Amino acid sequence: MATPDVYKPAGTPDPFSSKMVNSPRINPSSKETQESLKRSFAKYLAADHGSPAVGKLFNPSKHLQYEEPTHIHTMEDIGFAASKGVSPVAVSEPFRLFSEEAVNIMREEIFDPEVQEKYSYTSDISPRQLRGYAPKHGKFIFEAWKHPETLALVSKIAGVELVPVMDYEIGHINLSVPGSKRDANMDDEAIVGWHRDSYPFVCVLMMSDTTNMIGGETALRTGTGEIRKVRGPSKGCAVVLQGRYIDHQALRAFGGQERVTMVTSFRPRSPRIRDDTVLKTVRPISNLSDLYGQAVEYQLENAESRIRQMLKNVRDSMKAGATDVQAIKSFLDFEIKTLSHLDKEIVDESLVKKGCLAEVCVEANDPKRHKTGE
Ligand SMILES: [Fe+2]
Repeated sequence: MATPDVYKPAGTPDPFSSKMVNSPRINPSSKETQESLKRSFAKYLAADHGSPAVGKLFNPSKHLQYEEPTHIHTMEDIGFAASKGVSPVAVSEPFRLFSEEAVNIMREEIFDPEVQEKYSYTSDISPRQLRGYAPKHGKFIFEAWKHPETLALVSKIAGVELVPVMDYEIGHINLSVPGSKRDANMDDEAIVGWHRDSYPFVCVLMMSDTTNMIGGETALRTGTGEIRKVRGPSKGCAVVLQGRYIDHQALRAFGGQERVTMVTSFRPRSPRIRDDTVLKTVRPISNLSDLYGQAVEYQLENAESRIRQMLKNVRDSMKAGATDVQAIKSFLDFEIKTLSHLDKEIVDESLVKKGCLAEVCVEANDPKRHKTGE
């Protein structure tokens, strides 16, 4: 494919993330990849790329309780090329992220009657979800996921600097009641069928006590078609997954009173990294005005940043009397593809079927898919 995964104008410093994606890789071992990730991230932290904190409700010294994941599985570990997605990282083992107190404050926000009533969605693949309530009705949740310290931790695990895709996707909630033990013969049944996410990365936070719960893993389909399971997180713990590029499903849990998970979706902070975001798995369960408005807003902000940089480069090169034709063509190619892609995602509202998601998951259920490695 002619399109560069990362558009990088000549003479600009390599952003942390594009460096990660562009690094030459001659079949590095998993250990080498992990070491390289650690070095790149240390460099990024030292460069102070963070944004200021939003609000004063979330206090990282009190509300973050981070513990390193025991292992991070790379794309190569599960049979994919390191360059398949926007980072060489596939999925983390569960790790502690927030304190008990923080999760309890988040629970108060989502169990607010107004949130339960006005922001509730149901679909043919998932019984109950809450979406788009932050920041208006979820100030603490909003601050927690926007805080630079939280973002630094999630980015460190993901191996690429991330920001929440848009406010609308902060704190998406899945609510379910695990089956009773007499359903134990349904062990591996999925609560959300095979699918790929709309956005590059997700961080899934467990908000329920899982002491008496069994199951609840995430199943992944590897590059060779085999199924691998990643343990589900316990309360306050999270999993980071590059869900846009890996077929996965959430398996049913048994025992316990309720199972509440919070899913926040992320994209690379750098506007120069390709954006494969699609909206098909979220359109039917969204307020389309908010979803489309925010999706177009961030895409235009990214385009604006790239255009400003390109304009500066073109003016500088004209002064020097050396216009870089290849750089101009590469820039235009990237912009045309990015905006054409966005155009396809903004589907006329009259064509969106509310709550109908089963048909968009058919693609991920195709058994031939793993053979092509797509
Ligand atoms: Fe997913």
